[in-house]
Amino acid sequence: MSEFHVRAVAEGEQRACLQVLEEALHAKPIADEAWAKMAPSWPAEGKFAAFDDHDTPVGITSSFDVELTVPGGRKLLTAAVDGVGVRADWTRRGILTTLMAVQLEDFAARGVPLAALHASEGVIYGRFGYGPATFCKGISVERPRAQVRDGVGRDGAVRIVTPAEAVERVPALYNRFEGTRPGFTTRPAQWWPGFFDRVVTGGGGYRVAIHSGPDGDDGFVVYQTVDMRDRQAPERGALLDIRELQAATPEAWAGLWRFLLSVDLVSAVAGRGRPLDEPIAGLLTDPRAVNTTEVMDDLWVRLVDVLAALRGRTYGAAEPVVLEVLDKQLPHNNGRYAVGQDGVERTTAEPELRLDVATLSSLYLGHGFFADLAPAGHVEVLDEAAVDRADTLFHTARVPWCGTFF
Ligand SMILES: CC(C)(COP(=O)(O)OP(=O)(O)OC[C@H]1O[C@@H](n2cnc3c(N)ncnc32)[C@H](O)[C@@H]1OP(=O)(O)O)[C@@H](O)C(=O)NCCC(=O)NCCS
Repeated sequence: MSEFHVRAVAEGEQRACLQVLEEALHAKPIADEAWAKMAPSWPAEGKFAAFDDHDTPVGITSSFDVELTVPGGRKLLTAAVDGVGVRADWTRRGILTTLMAVQLEDFAARGVPLAALHASEGVIYGRFGYGPATFCKGISVERPRAQVRDGVGRDGAVRIVTPAEAVERVPALYNRFEGTRPGFTTRPAQWWPGFFDRVVTGGGGYRVAIHSGPDGDDGFVVYQTVDMRDRQAPERGALLDIRELQAATPEAWAGLWRFLLSVDLVSAVAGRGRPLDEPIAGLLTDPRAVNTTEVMDDLWVRLVDVLAALRGRTYGAAEPVVLEVLDKQLPHNNGRYAVGQDGVERTTAEPELRLDVATLSSLYLGHGFFADLAPAGHVEVLDEAAVDRADTLFHTARVPWCGTFF
């Protein structure tokens, strides 16, 4: 059987590596024109690949650096893992395991405290120390049943912009929202061209509308309408599908929803990947006009440097707790940590809770509870009283949400 070797991707090898990824994700081969558009956003930097005996790539993992907002508002350097795939005839031979090991060692050597990704399947990344750290929901709002309450969302104006205007204005507008809640990531310049190409400029068919309030532009929505009429239901209106909606203020948020719910010939407004705490029901005269269609994991996080990551966030009001962390891939993280409002230290004190780095990573941004993960065996409880303290320290009032796909 052929063997593989893993190394950094060299300049000029990116297209062949992207092809491996596209094939693994069942996408069509990349045409020359598409590659010409993508190439500037797909540098060799940050990519590792597995190669066969002929130096042909058969597996790939890729990342780029972003900043991730953590509880307390600090933004920590984070490796955003954005392209993982192994060619179908090479799977289950340990390629991903080797790629993940090499990539994590690279993050650690570069002093990157956190890594994050979106997972295609729930079973893949836990073994590498990643845990689901933010969640999101799908919603469907019925029209014309859904009426926005009087006096809400009327202060500003919404205008539909051209694709060129969207490309010019939306990235700068997004920068106004960064850092407002745990889980938000910066979007580096290389992230935007792919997004615009998929949804707006490349024939994706989405429209962009911008809200402006007293201080100028303060929110945007990217949406498309899909004709749902058929012979059985000739009267049925279109589905308005939200790709993304971001707002800097509650007024901008309400104004964008008022706009979406006012579009004629639409029978439902739906969106996926919305924040769990988005209060749409409260916006409506009939709260039952909104249905939650799904709840999904959103961002998976991996603490690469446990001490730096724990020191990067703030904690709720409770006495400190001593955690023992187990990390198979990055043994420098193994050990005990005293975590409290006044700081985080390595310690030799007796541990009160013992957990794998993947579990700690899933609790890191403030979603979930130690108390809920303990019965399922994710947290070994050595001192009962520590569970409540740990939850008060780690859990955040603001629900973490990422909302940026990579
Ligand atoms: C997911 C993927 C990258 C795994 O690559 P791989 O090289 O087969 O993974 P490995 O051989 O290193 O597997 C490591 C372990 O994870 C398990 N595993 C890996 N992928 C799995 C999957 N999709 N479902 C279930 N188990 C999986 C393996 O069985 C193995 O378990 P073991 O150590 O107990 O034997 C590959 O299947 C793939 O490219 N899938 C399609 C694209 C995709 O989903 N990419 C991820 C995008 S986020």
